[in-house]
Amino acid sequence: MKFDTPATTNPIDQLKVVGHPIDRIDGRYKVTGTAPYAYERHDAVGNPAYGFVIGAAIAKGRIASMDLAAAKAAPGVLAVITAENAGQLAKGDMNTVKLLAGPDIDHYHQAVALVVAETFEQARDGAEKVRIDYVRGQGRFDLAAARDGAGMAGSGYWGPPATSVGDFAGAFAAAPVQLDATYTTPDQGHAMMEPHASTAAWDGDKLTLWTSNQMIAWGVGDVAKTLGVAAENVRLISPFVGGGFGGKLFVRADAILAALGARAAKRPVKVALTRPLMFNNTTHRPATIQRIRIGASRDGKITAIGHESWSGDQPDGQPETTVGQTRLIYAGANRMTAMRLATLHLPEGNAMRAPGEAPGMMALEIAMDEMAEKLGLDPIAFRDLNDTQVDPESPDRPFSQRQLVECFRLGAARFGWDKRSPRPGAARDGRWLVGLGVAAAFRNNLVMASGARVRLDRRGLVTVETDMTDIGTGSYTIIAQTAAEMMGLPIDKVVVRLGDSAFPVSAGSGGQWGGNSSTAGVYAACVRLRDTVVERLRLNAAEVTFADGQVRSGDRTVPLAEAAADGDLVAEDKIEYGDLAKRYQQSTFGAHFVEVGVDAATAEIRVRRMLAVCAAGRILNPKSARSQVIGAMTMGVGAALMEELVVDKRRGFFVNHDLAGYEVPVHADIPHQEVAFLDEADPMSSPMKAKGVGELGLCGVGAAVANAIYNATGVRVRDYPVTLDKLL
Ligand code: MOS
Repeated sequence: MKFDTPATTNPIDQLKVVGHPIDRIDGRYKVTGTAPYAYERHDAVGNPAYGFVIGAAIAKGRIASMDLAAAKAAPGVLAVITAENAGQLAKGDMNTVKLLAGPDIDHYHQAVALVVAETFEQARDGAEKVRIDYVRGQGRFDLAAARDGAGMAGSGYWGPPATSVGDFAGAFAAAPVQLDATYTTPDQGHAMMEPHASTAAWDGDKLTLWTSNQMIAWGVGDVAKTLGVAAENVRLISPFVGGGFGGKLFVRADAILAALGARAAKRPVKVALTRPLMFNNTTHRPATIQRIRIGASRDGKITAIGHESWSGDQPDGQPETTVGQTRLIYAGANRMTAMRLATLHLPEGNAMRAPGEAPGMMALEIAMDEMAEKLGLDPIAFRDLNDTQVDPESPDRPFSQRQLVECFRLGAARFGWDKRSPRPGAARDGRWLVGLGVAAAFRNNLVMASGARVRLDRRGLVTVETDMTDIGTGSYTIIAQTAAEMMGLPIDKVVVRLGDSAFPVSAGSGGQWGGNSSTAGVYAACVRLRDTVVERLRLNAAEVTFADGQVRSGDRTVPLAEAAADGDLVAEDKIEYGDLAKRYQQSTFGAHFVEVGVDAATAEIRVRRMLAVCAAGRILNPKSARSQVIGAMTMGVGAALMEELVVDKRRGFFVNHDLAGYEVPVHADIPHQEVAFLDEADPMSSPMKAKGVGELGLCGVGAAVANAIYNATGVRVRDYPVTLDKLL
């Protein structure tokens, strides 16, 4: 089904099942330990051997020699895989560096060997007996030091590296009110609960990988390319994923090494990355330096807005695309953005939840707060004044829908914004200085082709199959809701099977496109299934309705199951997007409100309450959507106050590579969260009229926290995380 004109009324609009707060189908499996994860597939492979990954002990240089003799002789060891004996390995399209290094080393903890043994302990023991001598090379690990040598980034899915409209320099110089400030965000790790893990089994030439991955089809392609095998001989299975946050968009060393280990050991092998390896072996969100300049007239109209960003990555890597939202969110006739990329030899930088906008909004939305203060305006009034209903870089492109002002209005009323003193340090509650902060939320809405297969059987059950993944987001549930709505069934008559490359290729879970796009693919397949049912039952298509397990047409009412009396009906289709997204800018919007307390003596910072108001198209399931947003708000508190991968700038690695040193919020850090959704349906996004919400919930949170801390204390911190030492 090609989607290239705005959606009209369709069966989803009935909202009998879609739009209801149905419990997550996978939830019970996950919390009762009955959801099988990639490392636990003994049911599928019998008695696997265990692989233990050895990560490079240097960040840059090469392996001078490896002595494997003691490891190979160790008890239970079945094989030791290195670049020497692994055969020809290519680099996958999605990987910036090789997943098995040697002799050259690109980054610290890049995999250099896999030891396979009968038990995990034997594999680990064997790994400790591998002797490796390195020749240490020169690497660059310090973004601030590399900043001046950074070149302009290349183009990518984010558009060109730089944009310019009007005369930014002239308008900024002439502006009566100016802000020129630089903000920094640190490297951050995904730190998902389930580590990267894979179980591999070969059957002749055919490889099956039970793995933990967000994007099944990308993974198949990269496994095939890396190993030099045909894609049709690779099967990826990933029905349950214990969190990804972008860290599992691409196959990592666990998958490739499990496959190589299984080939060498001639039996199934499973490999999980240890927690320390997750931080330095895989990917992370790169640190950024962001210079923002805003010029405005005295009455608060932005006349010039400029956003420059520096980040680093491995050679051939990509920039952290922090300027994307600045191209779109506020009006202003004269504008510029630029992204520069420095070569660093830290682990590979890549996408982490809301790549680009998450760190971009952390900077931009402090800048907006600072500018409002210079203008003597309320921060919400300043944003309202500079709202735009069109893409400010291409004014002939309207937003498909944009209710940013409405989000602020509703949020201000709910949060009690009128009680905020514009004077910092004015509110006190015992020993706590109390402050309120606000920030816009903004994240683009991407749409991706997505396919599904649906099957109606004689019991009246509909089974949906698609390679879509559920990374804890609720995919199973909203897909079941979609099929139930389309076929006129209660949700318990729908079976959803996900995460298997044997199923039609879906949008996958990334970039907050998965919810809308994957359900739109299921919608398309269900439209076909409905047609097949109508044909089989010889009904008049013009007046047919599907409801309550029945198909009605004129005065005929037939149980849906009857259409499959002589055999299952199967339909497959995919949603494909035309250029609607080019003619209309599709984005999601929100407003984050935060109240903090800062201890007047110790500067301890506590978040007291949070509210997010989101305008993100139709909300397919308010319960799972709310869970996405409160999870994102929690992640935003982490980004504001705690999260930082600390770089050892001499040795070139992330020092705090475990969950003791890499701090994320716990329950005690998050006392109260509220989420409100504006009642929207965006006919430009898909027949579902939904948009992404899982990343929107993160964008802007960090700045709202930082702005609240400023309101509480009068101390403006521009370097994240905002830790108490920066307030003293
Ligand atoms: Mo998201 S960072 O595209 O999983």
